[in-house]
Amino acid sequence: MDGNGRWARQRYMPRFFGHKQGVDTLVRTVNAFAERGVEFLTVYAFSSENWKRPTEEVSGLMSLVLVAVTKYLQKLANDGVRIRIVGDRDAVSDKLRAAWEQAETLTANNRRITLSVAFNYGGRWDMVQACRRAIAEGVPAEQVDEAYLSSRMALAYAPDPDLFIRTGGEMRVSNFLLWQAAYSEFFFTDRLWPDFGEADIDAALAAFAQRDRRFGGIRPNEVVPEGT
Ligand code: IPE
Ligand code: MG
Repeated sequence: MDGNGRWARQRYMPRFFGHKQGVDTLVRTVNAFAERGVEFLTVYAFSSENWKRPTEEVSGLMSLVLVAVTKYLQKLANDGVRIRIVGDRDAVSDKLRAAWEQAETLTANNRRITLSVAFNYGGRWDMVQACRRAIAEGVPAEQVDEAYLSSRMALAYAPDPDLFIRTGGEMRVSNFLLWQAAYSEFFFTDRLWPDFGEADIDAALAAFAQRDRRFGGIRPNEVVPEGT
């Protein structure tokens, strides 16, 4: 969800104003995705590297998340959204941890769409924590395979993403879903996150529908029958 800072700057406003608008965009967007039949939406809210930002911005983001849970949790719950948080919770405040738990518990039985919020998350962090779990479980090395590690990843409950969207014009992955995005289709848009809306979702889904996904294979119509 990139571009909040630039969106605010264009309006001569502090970056926080953009982040605040970004939360509203997310709440709108979840429903728009659900209406289009998307069952899993995973958003990158705060990366393992975002701690490098100025202290005021980091604490602003933390308090914004708390306020957002208070303001929108009931609405999301009523809309059939299951909320899951993925990331390292150890580094966040007790208050925020409690808010995450409340959001997960209240929405645990919803299935219209699963919104996974990646917070204090990094794809590399996820791989490391999955390996640590394997070691803690005492699994013999030869039993540590892709399926096993997948089952220990933070997003083990979700299928790998079909479509990976990045807003804000940058064309990089920035440590998001490194493991899970192995065969995702990528869609990059210059749209700044606070301006992201239904037209952008439709553009992304239309682009996705045009892609020819082979997962490392070849097109079925190129398979030459044996013996020819
Ligand atoms: C939001 O956008 C991303 C978060 C970490 C919340 P940015 O804050 O990166 O916005 P830009 O890139 O400065 O526009
Ligand atoms: Mg940015």
